[in-house]
Amino acid sequence: MLRGMPSELPTLQAGADLAFIRRETELKPVPFVPEIRLHMAEDAIALWETTERERGGAGLPPPFWAFAWAGGVAVARYVLDHPELVDGRAVLDIAAGSGLVGVAAALRGAKDVRAAEIDAFAVSAIGLNAEVNGVRVDGALVDLVDGDGAPAEVVLAGDVFYERAMAARFLPFLERAAARGATVIVGDPGRAYLPRDRFTAVAAYQVPVVADLEDTSVKTTTVWRLG
Ligand SMILES: C[S@@+](CC[C@H](N)C(=O)[O-])C[C@H]1O[C@@H](n2cnc3c(N)ncnc32)[C@H](O)[C@@H]1O
Repeated sequence: MLRGMPSELPTLQAGADLAFIRRETELKPVPFVPEIRLHMAEDAIALWETTERERGGAGLPPPFWAFAWAGGVAVARYVLDHPELVDGRAVLDIAAGSGLVGVAAALRGAKDVRAAEIDAFAVSAIGLNAEVNGVRVDGALVDLVDGDGAPAEVVLAGDVFYERAMAARFLPFLERAAARGATVIVGDPGRAYLPRDRFTAVAAYQVPVVADLEDTSVKTTTVWRLG
């Protein structure tokens, strides 16, 4: 009995996460990327409070995984409209949140899609969201940002430049990935810490966003290629 417990606990926890995500979200098409459906919430603060109350106590991260962020929406749109970017290639969706970007890559023929997250709820959401869209995305609870993203040939990042400390880690990570030959694509709706001079714009979209999260209903969002 005791010997079996350690290996059973993560499975039980993941199962509880899946039930929680299904209960607290609605499965619906992503505005601007209607080809993809995600388990999404309406009210971030209410969901965050419920998550802390029921699932972990104070100190859990905000439920980024329950929303399609403008940067991710733009990258997903770009990938769906430019399948040659990912077709037959190994893709890493870094800081994947819901897994939206990884799902888009998988739908357009990526060979392997890994979606890396540091939030266990996000990893559960990625699995659910991949399944409902009929694709395989390998969600991983791992921080890869000190590496170079190998072996991915394409590194996709939606909305990762919204905090100074995070940006200070993500820019060198993305630069290391580009230096070893990976194609690096970032989606960003004008966040404060994106160093624009290091990137080349490849597309710009008017992305509908959740007004409660962004204080507006549409954000001009740019898809950038590093280098
Ligand atoms: C604003 S959300 C963007 C999610 C998704 N890419 C999108 O655009 O919808 C940022 C995400 O980055 C994740 N994150 C932050 N630091 C990370 C790290 N070092 N490795 C992986 N994920 C990270 C957070 O957990 C959060 O889900």
